[in-house]
Amino acid sequence: MLRAIEHRGGKVLILDQSKLPHHIEDVECSDWRQVADCIKTLKIRGAPAIGIAAAMGAALGADSIKAGDFEEFIRKLEPVLSGLLSTRPTAVNLKWALERAKGRAFAEREHPVADIKEALWREAEEIHAEDIAANKAIGRWGAQFIKDGDTILTHCNAGALATGGYGTATAPIFVAHEEGRKINVIVDETRPVLQGARLTALEMKEAGIPATLITDNSAGALMRKGEIDLAIVGTDRTARNGDVANKIGTYSVAVLARENGVPFYVAAPMSSIDFAMPSGDMIPVEERSEDEVFHIGGVRIAPHGIKARNMAFDITPARYVTAIITELGAFRPKDIKKLNGPALAELNLEEIRL
Ligand code: MRU
Repeated sequence: MLRAIEHRGGKVLILDQSKLPHHIEDVECSDWRQVADCIKTLKIRGAPAIGIAAAMGAALGADSIKAGDFEEFIRKLEPVLSGLLSTRPTAVNLKWALERAKGRAFAEREHPVADIKEALWREAEEIHAEDIAANKAIGRWGAQFIKDGDTILTHCNAGALATGGYGTATAPIFVAHEEGRKINVIVDETRPVLQGARLTALEMKEAGIPATLITDNSAGALMRKGEIDLAIVGTDRTARNGDVANKIGTYSVAVLARENGVPFYVAAPMSSIDFAMPSGDMIPVEERSEDEVFHIGGVRIAPHGIKARNMAFDITPARYVTAIITELGAFRPKDIKKLNGPALAELNLEEIRL
């Protein structure tokens, strides 16, 4: 499986996803600013992968700090953390991972600065390893919804490339395939950056899973013809009321799925659930450059002198979501808020799992 990111020898290697599928090329980052640039320019993208990159970027930034004591160290780390945080606004994993890095620094404050720097690398590696484990658990919980012979629609890329290693929306697909179920995957191309056509299509091909690429505007027609059994997508941030922010076009897929009686699942590691966010209406939605809309593969397709709108994400209201599949199980959107905080320890998950 292609890997998005790796820590090697005090450097961060990021697979440049903007060059996929044609070129497999790493960017070698030895400065946190390079990591920030990779996030901004979509060389690494997908909420969990962005979180891992931010944690590694924080460790890289910490390494370059000269400080005699903890106070000086944390003061100098602050601009690194805020620089990484400012790269992209929608995926909550970015904030979550940076808060973990900062928390780890504070937890180690009695130790020498050199040890705190070491601890930040360990924190980043733990975030990475936990994400892979969460992906695999999502795969096991989600595979129950996929039957032999099913055709599954997915939007954007919520695969290995978007995460620590196995994907969220793709994880149930991989498990169903590994268990021998005959499945088909319909891949939305996902304009304007084409994460479906370039990345998900590549992952499906590499895994030997039968997949068909469609233009984004074909999904409704295929659902109406009864050719799609279920849809699974990822999320950049899910609010406590179960509203889901994900790649632009997800909302249209969800509404069409409801209209056509197709179950619509969201695969979300707990790190993508923002319990402090009451509803999707308040989730910041990134607006990217008009240029991404004007061009395909570097070729201008629109006349000069016209404007473009490029919202990178949309919000799907919880009522369209059949279930949210996390590493703790699959839940109705209305039950997601119960998974937060100390109450979680006392919760009988069996009672609310689907
Ligand atoms: O703009 P991107 O490519 O970062 O958007 C990615 C998505 O929308 C994914 O579906 C989401 O981050 C979930 S990845 C497991």
